[in-house]
Amino acid sequence: MRLLFVGDVVGRSGRSMLRQHLERLIEEHGIELAVVNGENAAGGWGLTPDTAEELFAAGADVITLGNHWADRKEILPYLERTDRVLRPCNWPGDPPGRGAVVVEGRSGCKVGVVCLHGRVFAPALLDDPFSAADRVLEELRGHTAAVLVDIHGDATSEKQALAWYLDGRASAVLGTHTHTPTADERILPGGTAAVTDVGMTGPRDAVIGFRPDLVIRRLRTQLHVPLEVASGPRVLCGVIVDVDPETGRAWGIERVRLEEE
Ligand SMILES: [Fe+2]
Ligand SMILES: [Fe+2]
Repeated sequence: MRLLFVGDVVGRSGRSMLRQHLERLIEEHGIELAVVNGENAAGGWGLTPDTAEELFAAGADVITLGNHWADRKEILPYLERTDRVLRPCNWPGDPPGRGAVVVEGRSGCKVGVVCLHGRVFAPALLDDPFSAADRVLEELRGHTAAVLVDIHGDATSEKQALAWYLDGRASAVLGTHTHTPTADERILPGGTAAVTDVGMTGPRDAVIGFRPDLVIRRLRTQLHVPLEVASGPRVLCGVIVDVDPETGRAWGIERVRLEEE
């Protein structure tokens, strides 16, 4: 079966790109399950119930989040109502919602999805993602062999280390958060597909989705310059992973990048 994972959807630009292309990608590639990182979907910061519904209507089956998971307070009760939006499962302090789920894909295959957050350069003091992964994968074992892990983090080393740590236990360990795709997609010896970052979906002519002039001003003045999601041509970045549903082993991973003229 084929799993599609789309990287951080940024603002209206990212949502419209998803609406325009996701269903077609699902059809064309025979996708069993589409997972979308939506942590920047609401104006660049967080997710609201309305934007979540928009991503689901566009074809997303599960939405993962990241450091911006709680930026919009209105999402907190929504996280308790749905099992299809995942916040990082190693966030401390018993937050609302959940960090992992097993869902049925389009042809009935069961797939586990896990949302994890890296600790290196992280904005908050998080629980150990390695131990959290051990715990969650143990819970999922018996429900499904196929598991897709979104590892949201800054450090390439940490994301790669987690992929090696989970090699043979997860079908895919896919990085998010930097909004910049890396060209290191591969299958590890135990059958885990890995890529350090899948990239983002939204404005192309931008600094990780935001207006370059504002980001430059913020960096040069060291002042809090409010950022805005950029406009103009859009990209959609993600990966497609081929997984044996019986064993959970991946046998293919391919980058996807759609770009407007
Ligand atoms: Fe992001
Ligand atoms: Fe992030």
